[in-house]
Amino acid sequence: MSRAVICGTGSCLPTGKLTNQDLTDMVDTSDEWITTRTGIKTRYISGRGEETSKLAANAALKALTMAGIGAEELDIIIVATITPDMSMPSCACLVQQQLGALNAFAFDLNAACSGFVYGLDVAEKYLNSNPGLKILVVGAETLSGRINWQDRNTCVLFGDGAGACILTGDDSGRGMLAAELYSDGRLFDLLKMDSAPSMNPEFAVADYDGSYIKMAGRDVFKYAVRFMEKSVAAVLKKAGISIEEIRLLIPHQANIRILKNLADHLGIAHEKVYINLQKYGNTSAASIPIALDEANREGRLVDNDLLLLCCFGGGFTWGAMIFRW
Ligand code: ACO
Repeated sequence: MSRAVICGTGSCLPTGKLTNQDLTDMVDTSDEWITTRTGIKTRYISGRGEETSKLAANAALKALTMAGIGAEELDIIIVATITPDMSMPSCACLVQQQLGALNAFAFDLNAACSGFVYGLDVAEKYLNSNPGLKILVVGAETLSGRINWQDRNTCVLFGDGAGACILTGDDSGRGMLAAELYSDGRLFDLLKMDSAPSMNPEFAVADYDGSYIKMAGRDVFKYAVRFMEKSVAAVLKKAGISIEEIRLLIPHQANIRILKNLADHLGIAHEKVYINLQKYGNTSAASIPIALDEANREGRLVDNDLLLLCCFGGGFTWGAMIFRW
């Protein structure tokens, strides 16, 4: 039986670094508050020439190099993002153009912070019907352009970046074993980023004040832990695997307290949970693929290790996925 295997990973961060100390010059906050409440110390912020598509293409190039695959060999490009360079064409088409991946078709996917994991699931469906395909999945964001830098509740949390991986079919027993994805649009209002004002009166916001990220932090916290825990339980059951067998958990990097709570609820040792949010903040759809690339390059995964991914984001969207590496 052929499964979707990850045969290359890559990541890219913009050059501009913003520390907690820098933020104290912008809003009423402190390094101590940000560190204890979120675990974040620094984040990277895009400048000119570091648009979402550029970060995505750079991450993709590294993944292609690791996989030993030329861009022209790609069949499909999926970019998970909520911050594309423009509404049309898609970020994926811009990535295709920058890579010269002219034999692929390309499209974007929006599932907020869960987008990369959703993208892997879509790729797996294509590979089920044609294991010979070579698919690029990228999570890339430049959230810095969509943050209200006067709002201390949100501006300390996020950062920019991109992570990518190449998938193909493999019948050695390695690859994606199971996935469980969910969403609940009834909770849309708890974490959102408005777009331009709508012409539909049903969606018109009387006090529209820009398309910034807004969230109900405590509710997001509560749901994130509860929903990720449930989805992990479901995917473990589906794959017939116990949490003790998992070698590495790479969760969406939102907040250290969410991740510690999640690890405790799941009963997984904290050293098996990959955490890099102290360096990058919350990079939304990019957070899991950046962490995956780092873990891969650090040698945290060896052949046949069981890797668990879990995600949570606006929508709400959430889910979990298991790979045999
Ligand atoms: N610096 C200093 N004080 C702050 C800051 C800041 N940056 N931000 C908020 N505060 C203040 C608040 O104004 C409030 O002050 P008040 O008591 O005088 O009103 C006080 O700190 C407590 O605010 P809370 O929102 O209750 O703080 P809480 O302990 O809940 O922590 C946080 C806030 C970190 C956002 C937390 O709710 C959280 O982690 N939520 C999860 C949300 C998250 O991670 N979102 C990321 C996007 S979602 C995703 O990716 C899944």
